[in-house]
Amino acid sequence: MSPQDQLPRPERRPRRLRRSAVIRDLVRETVLTPQKLVLPLFIIDGEGISQPIDAMPGRARLSIDLAIEECHQALELGVGAFALFPAIEASLKTPEAEHALDDGNLLCRAVRDIKSELPGACIITDIALDPYSSMGHDGLVSPEGVILNDETVDVLARMAVLHASAGADIVAPSDMMDGRVAGIRAALDQARYENIAILSYTAKYASSFYGPFREALDSAPVDAPNVPGDKKTYQMDPANSREALIEMVLDEMEAADILMVKPALPYLDVIARLRERTDLPLAAYHVSGEYAMVKAAAANGWLDERACMTESLLAIARAGADLIFTYAALDYARWWRE
Ligand code: PBG
Repeated sequence: MSPQDQLPRPERRPRRLRRSAVIRDLVRETVLTPQKLVLPLFIIDGEGISQPIDAMPGRARLSIDLAIEECHQALELGVGAFALFPAIEASLKTPEAEHALDDGNLLCRAVRDIKSELPGACIITDIALDPYSSMGHDGLVSPEGVILNDETVDVLARMAVLHASAGADIVAPSDMMDGRVAGIRAALDQARYENIAILSYTAKYASSFYGPFREALDSAPVDAPNVPGDKKTYQMDPANSREALIEMVLDEMEAADILMVKPALPYLDVIARLRERTDLPLAAYHVSGEYAMVKAAAANGWLDERACMTESLLAIARAGADLIFTYAALDYARWWRE
């Protein structure tokens, strides 16, 4: 008798279903199609301009005409939703971010032009003041350096109506002020935009993974007296997860249509927790720093970009995200097609 004959022989063998690619395909639990992705776009004024973003290899600030071209390509690949972020010229940024409410601003022009060229595209606009604020904050800042809540919500609500009038399909408050979903819903309904959906950044953490994004928009909090150097008085503490459930309940009560967790990979537990507690669609934002990490390691030959990016997005979907904002949307859609 060989020693092997004396070992217990397992009856249950999970490896039976891993034996071939066809079987693995049959039992795969999560399938992520390009239709579930949202491509964020950085828009810049001018024409024919594509300014590469150093910390986000493969991504660039695009003038509206080139952004439309990219949307075209994306739609052909099955990616039909776009989150627009305007890179506003420094001279137009003010302490009170008034340019956010200017109907002729870059964001409003971009929404109108993209929708008129590509009516089938879904345009998601960001509701927060940081691209327009000379202080680099998502809300209004008091002389004492406090980010004002209710005063900010008032501006955000008007901003949402402006974006809806320009043709936005979904408005996405990313500011983390209390009560902003209710404020935006009321303003939209009053202006008869009751069919415009709100995608709320429900659990948005004060994360250091936003660095490349702030470089792209030059939107980091400025270093000045009485201006907080970070966003910790409104974005969530990375140490907290129960608090995300409080935000979830409030957003549901305030009639948000889609909830979001951001960033994604370092917060898969939060995604999974919200997935169990809400019946609303759940989004996750695979943010700029998450994208940059894979790109940088791949550029050094340390990681396989395609395999690691695909695995990242699949993990986010597996944790419970129905839709994913990612800078890798076009890459993923191309890989999907192959
Ligand atoms: C700002 C906003 C940020 C991101 C999306 N909207 C940055 C911030 O809160 O400072 C980050 C997205 C990314 O890093 O990809 N309202």
